[in-house]
Amino acid sequence: MSKDNTPIHGIWTSRWVFILAAAGSAIGLGNIWKFPYMTGANGGGAFVMVYLVCIACVGMPIMIAEVMLGRRGGMSPVNSMRKLARENGVSSRWTGVGALGALSGFLLLSFYTVIGGWTLFYVWEMASGALHQASASEVQGVFDGIMANPWLVLAGHTTFMVMTMVVIGRGVVRGIEASVRILMPLLFLLLLVLFGYALTSDGFGAALRYLFAVDVSRLTGMSVLAAVGHAFFTLSIGLGAIMAYGAYMPRNTVDGKGVRKPVSIGSTVLTVGVLDTVVALMAGMVIFPVVFANGLAPSEGPGLLFVTLPLAFAEVPLGALFGSLFFILVVCAAWTSSISIAEPPVAWLVEKGFSRPQAAVLVGLLAWTLGIGSALSFNVLSDYTLFGKTFFGLVDFVTINIMLPVGGLLIAIFAGWVMKETHVRKELAMKRFGVYLVWRAVLRVVVPLALGTVFVFSLWQGLK
Ligand code: PHE
Ligand code: NA
Repeated sequence: MSKDNTPIHGIWTSRWVFILAAAGSAIGLGNIWKFPYMTGANGGGAFVMVYLVCIACVGMPIMIAEVMLGRRGGMSPVNSMRKLARENGVSSRWTGVGALGALSGFLLLSFYTVIGGWTLFYVWEMASGALHQASASEVQGVFDGIMANPWLVLAGHTTFMVMTMVVIGRGVVRGIEASVRILMPLLFLLLLVLFGYALTSDGFGAALRYLFAVDVSRLTGMSVLAAVGHAFFTLSIGLGAIMAYGAYMPRNTVDGKGVRKPVSIGSTVLTVGVLDTVVALMAGMVIFPVVFANGLAPSEGPGLLFVTLPLAFAEVPLGALFGSLFFILVVCAAWTSSISIAEPPVAWLVEKGFSRPQAAVLVGLLAWTLGIGSALSFNVLSDYTLFGKTFFGLVDFVTINIMLPVGGLLIAIFAGWVMKETHVRKELAMKRFGVYLVWRAVLRVVVPLALGTVFVFSLWQGLK
C-alpha cells in the first residue's frame, strides 16, 4: 500500500466495476465451452445438480473469503498473504498460498490461451460463411484441420496471449477496467440475443429436460470430483485471481444521496456468483437446443462447441450471423478471463520493481512457452501420454481438479481458522451477524470435510 492507503496497482472506479471485472474473470470458457461438454460427458441433470450444490456450499463461501483476504492485503496474492501472515502472527509459509496460486495461474494461462485461440478461428469460420450448409463430416474436417496443423494452433495461442498481455500491460484501471466496461455489456447483450433465438428453437424442451432432469444413477466418483473442480474453475477461485481483483475493490461507496457506505463483500460477491451460474445455465440452454434439434449427440466432448454447434448453425437461416455472434461472445468471455488469470503474477512482478508492460511481457512469454506443449498436444505430440492423458489433458486435470481445490481449501482454513475475527468482520462489513456465523461455520467445517471426502473418495476410486 502507498501512504494514502490505496493499493499501488490502482483501485476500481466503483463497486460495479469490481462486479464487472470479477464477473469477467468468472464468466469464460468454463461456462461456455467446458460446462456444456462436461454436462454432456457426465450425464446431464445429475451433474448439473452436484455442480450447483458445489457452487452454493463450497464455491461461494470460498469466493467471499478470497476477496476478503485480497482487500485486506491490498497487493498481489503473494504479498497479501505475506502481510496477512504477519498481521496474524503465523508462519510466513502461508505466503505459499499466493505462490501456489501464481503457479496454477501460469499453468492455467498456458492452455487457456490455446483454447482461446481456437475461438478466434471460429469467429472467422462462421463470419466468412465457409461452413454454411456444410455436412457433418465437413464441419468435423474443419475442426480436425485446425487441430492437426500445429502452426495454426500456435498462431491462435500466440494471438490470444498477445491480446491478453496488451490489456494487462496497460494496468488495472486503464487496461482491465476499460476492457471489461466494453466487453461485459457486449457479452450480456449477445447472450440475450442468442437465448431469445434458442427459445424459439425446436430443441428447447429437450434441452431443459437434459439439463434439469436428475438421474442419480449416472453419478460416479469421478464425475463428482469433476463437478468440484469445475466449481472452482468456473468461479475463478483457488489461485488468487479473484484475490487480486479483491485487492482493487473500493472500501466505501457513495450512494445516491451522497452518503458514504462500506462496500459489503458478501452481497457483491454473491452477485458475481449468481451471474456466473446464470451464464453457464444460459449457455447450456443456448447450446443444447441446437444440438437436440439437429439430432446430434450431447456427449461430444471438448469438440461440442467447435463441431456440433457450427454444424447446427450451418443448417439454420441466418446461421452465419448468429454463429459469428456466438463466437464473438466466446472470445469476449475468454479474453476477460485470461486477463484475470495473468493478473496475480503480473502484479507480483510489479511489486518487485518491474514496470507493468515489462511484467506483462515476461509472464506472457513464460506462459506462452509452456503453452506450446498444450498446443502440440492436439497434433504432433498427441501420441505422447502420461496416465492416459496428453500434456494438455494432464495440465488441465492437475490444475483444475487438484491445485485449485487445494488452494481453495487453504484459503478457507486461513480465513476461517487463522485470521483474527475482528479483522474478518470489519473487512466483510456484513449487516447480519447470523449470516456471518453461517459463512464462518461453512468455511471451518463444511468446506474442509467436503473437499477431504471428495479427495479421499476419488483417490480410492482411482486406485481401484
Ligand atoms: N473462471 C474462468 C472460466 O470459467 C476461468 C478462470 C479460472 C479464470 C481461474 C481465472 C481463474 O473460464
Ligand atoms: Na466461469
